[in-house]
Amino acid sequence: MKKYAFGVLTLLSFSLVAQSKNTPVEDQVEALLQKMTLEEKIGQMNQYNGFWNVTGPPPQGGETSDKYQNLATGRVGSMLNVRGVKEVREVQRLAVEESRLGIPLIIGFDLIHGYKTISPIPLAETASWDLEAIQHSAALGAKEATAAGINWTFAPMVDITRDARWGRVMEGAGEDPYLGSLVAAARVRGFQGEDLSSPHTLAACAKHFAAYGFSEAGRDYNTVDIGLNTLHNIVLPPFKAAAAAGVRTFMNSFNDLNGIPATADKYLQREILKGDWNFDGFVVSDWGSLREMMDHGFARDRKHAGELALNGGSDMDMESYIYLDYAKELLQEGKVTQEQIDDAVRRILRVKFELGLFEDPYRYCDEKREQAVTGSEEIVSGVLDMAKKSIVLLKNQNNLLPLKKEGQKIALIGPLAADKNSPLGNWRIAAENFSAVSVLEGLQSYPGNTITHEQGVKLINKVPAGFHEEVDINTTDKSGIEEAVASAKDADVVVMVLGEYGFQSGEARSRANLDLPGFQQELLERVAAVNSNIVLVLMNGRPLVLNWADANVPAIVEAWQLGTQSGNAIAQVLYGDYNPSGKLPMSFPRSVGQMPLYYNHKSTGRPGADGEDAGSVFWSHYIDEKNSPLYPFGFGLSYTSFEYSDIRLSAPQFSKGGTITAQVDITNTGKYNGKEVVQLYLKDHFASATRPVRELKGFELVELKAGETKTVVFSIDESLLQFYNGQGQWMAEPGAFTAFIGSDSTTKRSAEFSFN
Ligand code: BGC
Repeated sequence: MKKYAFGVLTLLSFSLVAQSKNTPVEDQVEALLQKMTLEEKIGQMNQYNGFWNVTGPPPQGGETSDKYQNLATGRVGSMLNVRGVKEVREVQRLAVEESRLGIPLIIGFDLIHGYKTISPIPLAETASWDLEAIQHSAALGAKEATAAGINWTFAPMVDITRDARWGRVMEGAGEDPYLGSLVAAARVRGFQGEDLSSPHTLAACAKHFAAYGFSEAGRDYNTVDIGLNTLHNIVLPPFKAAAAAGVRTFMNSFNDLNGIPATADKYLQREILKGDWNFDGFVVSDWGSLREMMDHGFARDRKHAGELALNGGSDMDMESYIYLDYAKELLQEGKVTQEQIDDAVRRILRVKFELGLFEDPYRYCDEKREQAVTGSEEIVSGVLDMAKKSIVLLKNQNNLLPLKKEGQKIALIGPLAADKNSPLGNWRIAAENFSAVSVLEGLQSYPGNTITHEQGVKLINKVPAGFHEEVDINTTDKSGIEEAVASAKDADVVVMVLGEYGFQSGEARSRANLDLPGFQQELLERVAAVNSNIVLVLMNGRPLVLNWADANVPAIVEAWQLGTQSGNAIAQVLYGDYNPSGKLPMSFPRSVGQMPLYYNHKSTGRPGADGEDAGSVFWSHYIDEKNSPLYPFGFGLSYTSFEYSDIRLSAPQFSKGGTITAQVDITNTGKYNGKEVVQLYLKDHFASATRPVRELKGFELVELKAGETKTVVFSIDESLLQFYNGQGQWMAEPGAFTAFIGSDSTTKRSAEFSFN
């Protein structure tokens, strides 16, 4: 037996704090806290990345061996990026069986969209507007990750994102705080389930607290400067919803917010989160964000960073080792208090007890379960279902789609057509590279047509080894274009798969251009010149500028990065075995110059007529581009068509405590059964602080057979009218409102009511 392999070992220290099911968690936390030395308490506040091959021989000498010792002496509370039962069991064994008190580690991992079996990127999942499906997808991810030893995910990311230049828009739920709040809660419920101590669920983490999505100019890690109005009305609601849904942890963010790095922000972490919202879980810093406060020019040195972070409300230090090095000294010098340390430790222990880790620290370490669950049929079919629901049909002129199943010559063209890696997107640390079903493979599973495949142009020059490498876009080699054009010439229909390489979005992948990278635009235009019957399938992690395609290509399908089952989902949609119903969670711009772009903007004092024309120069607009997006928030087509009735209000007004309803009839007037997301927007005409031109306040995903009519009823009460007002209060103000109901954020179908 290897010295460090798990076997029959003394469980003495582990039994010191073994959990009794009958003692309330709070009592157990207090009892344990009493036993802990200051060093052990500080240890709980320290998180390490997986830093060595834990199942190999232990390191001798050097920095890593210190870390190893720290695990065995109770100076580490959590690890991240240790995965797989074998590895997790080994680090857990060190903490539990070698340290004095045997406090188990909480094992963190970025389960962002699936563990090994990859589901669509969160932005894509949001496009389904299907909260049950999103919750289920998170639950499946939790099932697979927990079977591999993980018990804490750094998700959901609930940052509101208005700027497509920011690469991390792929990780969130898009631009709207109402939709974002519901998706945040759904994902928290999915990860955490009904019972946190079940071995199939894990603790979730709402991140990045706060306003990281507002990084100036869409450049990652950049400064954020927004006022309280935007902070409270737009940024905070999804975090609050996650807290209300019981999320057990928060992660703060890299950015500074109005001059204060979020890691040290007392207002956010102590006043709002732990104060107003009564959050009793813990806050983890982002990777090295304590240390980065020195680069921000906010902390003098590492020790000062520790003082600022702890005072600011950061409970656990991810990868700065600053609490470990300085918390004791800071306490002795009176720069931080014993209460602050105890409070942080209490929070961390509470979550560990809730996870059932004290009862059985190896509850996530069952190799048999790992084998049975990883890539199981249930998970694979779940991600396929989610992938189909995430697809958005942006254009379908002359019903080019769905494709005929027989007798067609299809030219499949584009650098992403046979790509098995890009559909996995970014954040897929545990997935096998090249494990996605490609579009080529998906189409080949329909045998009735003849398919020719041409890459046309390469998108990248070489495949990055992983997550940390820059993507090297091909800007020199156009040699494949002629063959692609030739194959398009005699095809009945051309399917082009274009977009972004899988690692072109995500952390640190900001882009200053939002066009099709490399030579893809040229390829598209050359192919379109010989065959205009093009179905453009897009794979991308963010909104792109698609003006030329919109004007010249008859059918456009937004297929994001849909994960492991990507090609099957796309093929089923292209062939009409699944009728798409996704709606955009972010506006698609006409130009990068429009960034940030979002539907729920303010009116300004010079709005122009309908935001597009004022008949003169002096209004809020660009002289060289429209204000409106190319495809608006909430937009998406179906193979069938829907007709809406006018809105019927139950009353023209209501007062505090009351409710009115707004209803419409919706009819499926086309040939296919289909689903429609019926959306309710409200406009507040006049208030003590300026209000958006309209805001999403309700939606329903309605399933309608061809010819069928249903009535959708929205109930409107005071809570839907509340906002952070001019006096800094969250309340509804009396006045006039408009309700809009329709199929996207530009709908004109409206009715007026008042609240008094
Ligand atoms: C990211 C976080 C992530 C963490 C751990 C950071 O770089 O900003 O979102 O959870 O790394 O991987």
